[in-house]
Amino acid sequence: MKGIILAGGSATRLYPLSKSISKQIMPVYDKPMIYYPLSALILAGIREILIISTPRDLPMFRELLGTGETLGMRFDYIVQEKPNGLAQAFVLGERFIGDRPACLILGDNIFYGQGFSGILAKAKDVKDNACIFGYSVKDPRAYGVVEFDESGKVLSIEEKPETPRSTYAVPGLYFYDNSVVARAKALKPSVRGEYEITDLNRTYWQEGKLKVEIFGRGFAWLDTGNSDSLLEASNFVATIQKRQGFYVSCIEEIAWRKGWIDDAQLEKAGKALDKTDYGKYILSLIA
Ligand code: DAU
Repeated sequence: MKGIILAGGSATRLYPLSKSISKQIMPVYDKPMIYYPLSALILAGIREILIISTPRDLPMFRELLGTGETLGMRFDYIVQEKPNGLAQAFVLGERFIGDRPACLILGDNIFYGQGFSGILAKAKDVKDNACIFGYSVKDPRAYGVVEFDESGKVLSIEEKPETPRSTYAVPGLYFYDNSVVARAKALKPSVRGEYEITDLNRTYWQEGKLKVEIFGRGFAWLDTGNSDSLLEASNFVATIQKRQGFYVSCIEEIAWRKGWIDDAQLEKAGKALDKTDYGKYILSLIA
């Protein structure tokens, strides 16, 4: 399976913070925001990843993440000229995806909780279908909203409805079979002029091919759309790390635990950062 991180957009809700710098490179406590979605893809066992961002910001991601070799991975990069919508990721990523299934994660979404690897392993198993997630939130109006019955059958899926039919927001993590590319190419822009991920999901739903997995109440899904949610996400990560001593979304650790890099490569990564707690944490893993 191929992975895509969509890390473009203009993030006007974070101005002036994001006026001259990408939102997805900003710190969430002690690491750049993009580390969190990247770690989710690594946990899912996805080694080939396409990073999509704006013409201004893409070079910064390239500088931050490189070729992926130090993680035993492969990163590709492609520009999205204009923020024309999330579904465009699959049109831009057509060559990268080739004949494989694909997973999209938004560069500003953070997932954390026990059992995440297992949930990902299940969701990843797409064959002639798609898998999205549902997460109950107090106010779902800012999100895609999915309604389903007791058997998990999807009854409706809408983008930012004024009157939501359920409390289940759709997080920015999506698994698709290879037909996603053709489906994305056939989409028409919405009234707000974007190629909507919800319209893409609706094509699967109409054919009875949209599966929904639920993240329960013990699970954290955070987004970082404004300065309050950015601060809350930072505090969340700091609280977990300080209490447990385990790092949240240390990409080198996850790649090492996956067996994609060996002890010597992990040590090298730690030594390069040994002035920081992050680097010391990496070195402590080998000890
Ligand atoms: O966070 C989950 C939500 O993400 C879903 O529930 C919604 O269904 C989905 O439409 C999306 O809603 P948002 O309002 O959060 O989308 P936004 O336009 O803010 O874009 C999400 C991220 O993707 C953001 O970090 C910017 C980036 N982006 C966005 C667009 C439209 C791009 O990189 N390129 C784009 O063309």
